[in-house]
Amino acid sequence: MALVDLAVSAYTYFAALSLSQQLSILFLGPFIYNVLWQLLYSLRKDRVPMAFHWVPWLGNAVAYGKDPYGFFNECRDKYGDVFSFVLVGKVMTVYLGPRGQEFVLNAKANDVSAEDAYQHLTTPVFGEGVIYDCPNHRLMEQKKFVKIALTSDAFRSYVPKFREEVLDYFTTSENYKMKENNSGVVDVLKAQPELTIFTSSRTLFGDEMRKKFDHSFAQLYADLDKGFAPINFALPHLPLPSHRKRDEAQRKISRTYMSLINHRRESGDIVQNRDLVDSLMLNSTYKDGVKMTDQQIANLMIGILMGGQHSSSSTSSWYLLHLAEHPEIQEELYKELTTLLNEKNGDIFDLTYDDMQKLTLHNHVIRETLRLHMPLHSIFRKVSKPLLVPNTKYVVPKGHHVLTSPGYAMIDDKIYPNADKFNPHRWDKPIVPENSQTESVDYGFGAISKGVSSPYLPFGGGRHRCIGEQFAFLQLGMILATHVYNIKWKFVEGQKMPDPHGPAKIQWEKRQTCVL
Ligand code: HEM
Repeated sequence: MALVDLAVSAYTYFAALSLSQQLSILFLGPFIYNVLWQLLYSLRKDRVPMAFHWVPWLGNAVAYGKDPYGFFNECRDKYGDVFSFVLVGKVMTVYLGPRGQEFVLNAKANDVSAEDAYQHLTTPVFGEGVIYDCPNHRLMEQKKFVKIALTSDAFRSYVPKFREEVLDYFTTSENYKMKENNSGVVDVLKAQPELTIFTSSRTLFGDEMRKKFDHSFAQLYADLDKGFAPINFALPHLPLPSHRKRDEAQRKISRTYMSLINHRRESGDIVQNRDLVDSLMLNSTYKDGVKMTDQQIANLMIGILMGGQHSSSSTSSWYLLHLAEHPEIQEELYKELTTLLNEKNGDIFDLTYDDMQKLTLHNHVIRETLRLHMPLHSIFRKVSKPLLVPNTKYVVPKGHHVLTSPGYAMIDDKIYPNADKFNPHRWDKPIVPENSQTESVDYGFGAISKGVSSPYLPFGGGRHRCIGEQFAFLQLGMILATHVYNIKWKFVEGQKMPDPHGPAKIQWEKRQTCVL
């Protein structure tokens, strides 16, 4: 009753104020509350120090979103490797460096959850029952099911398909039309996502599905992809037009995958080792006997395609841009390629899976690009029960998030001299062997390195480690080799290294060896 009385008198007092006074309270109130809350928070000795923010709820979202590594630098200078900040209503505890990687990537599944951290973002895009829309032990088995399709035998058959797709793109895309043009201009931020989706879908989902990838289907993927916009981290179900498009695209794409699955089931056209679709249809019964439904298989296909899409297309965009600045490295790559082909069969452009392993500089270019531009700058988990930060008195409460950033370590000058310079030759001698820790562990999808403190972890570590590394290297390697063999390129007049939103235009010119 006393509370109601208090509320009534507060309201009466508020109602008696002038409009300008009322507006000041409405606008200033949250700011004052926000500052007081931070003051009280900072008095707690068991809480990680928090970066100050003026704007309630939004917190440091703008500074972090614009330049995550710059923001981490500033905070690290003030607080050290462990600090927290507010991001759209969520408290993020950042732990940088090797210990932070161990803390977050090797945390126990009972203590932290990737599903709780990513689900809002991923479930509307992938669909239900897969990846983060299921218990962690199910995800571990789904990763195993996918890995069964990613064997070296499968890779052997993928290599010529990657080449064919790139050459086909060079022939048909408005960006190249190489049978008609000897030179031209292309915005790599437009071309590389297309090339990535064509090469991935052809190899993982087969020729039949690739044929469906006309312009309208690519548009559906673009709509689905917008589901990963940062706003969805906080507000995934707002009635926005982009959300409606995302949901519609999800339904249409998953229906198309379902029709492929149904067709193969009805016609009995299921072949071992052909593509991921067959593989999932043959191997998707969990250890406890539960079978994945066809709908879940379709959703997992979306998850796998989308998982690789961003990372691979951004990596190939970045290496094209860096190489535009370094014609001398393009020439070295060309030499590496033609020497290998000459030794083999006299300059016919028909690389095999085994050849790809021999293209050392090509692989160093990919490695160096991933070092400078790790596609995921932050890896999050949501804390499920109070978590002591090792060797400190700090406790991260349930409901907060923990965050680490292997990409931040990869641009550290102390580990990589002149870290901001693109220098694939730094890998001529291995600086930081990723698998220096020999002890391994198996979370259910094959053995991986147990330690995660390496300063080179572009594919993450621990139970959520990437399973697409070899596929990505092969795809990126073949895309690179096909560019190097057929064209030379440089920035168009006035173009510099772009910001992530582009444009990112390069001028290409056919080489003498161009096969088109
Ligand atoms: C997980 C990076 C390509 C499938 C991850 C993670 C990273 C990563 C850092 C860990 C995320 C976390 O801990 O929260 C990359 C990079 C790629 C790439 C840099 C390319 C350059 C691919 C491809 C596929 C793929 C091509 C599929 C064929 C996956 C899957 C996971 C994963 C299934 C597991 C998610 C989990 O367990 O939570 N990737 N990835 N990735 N990636 Fe990749």
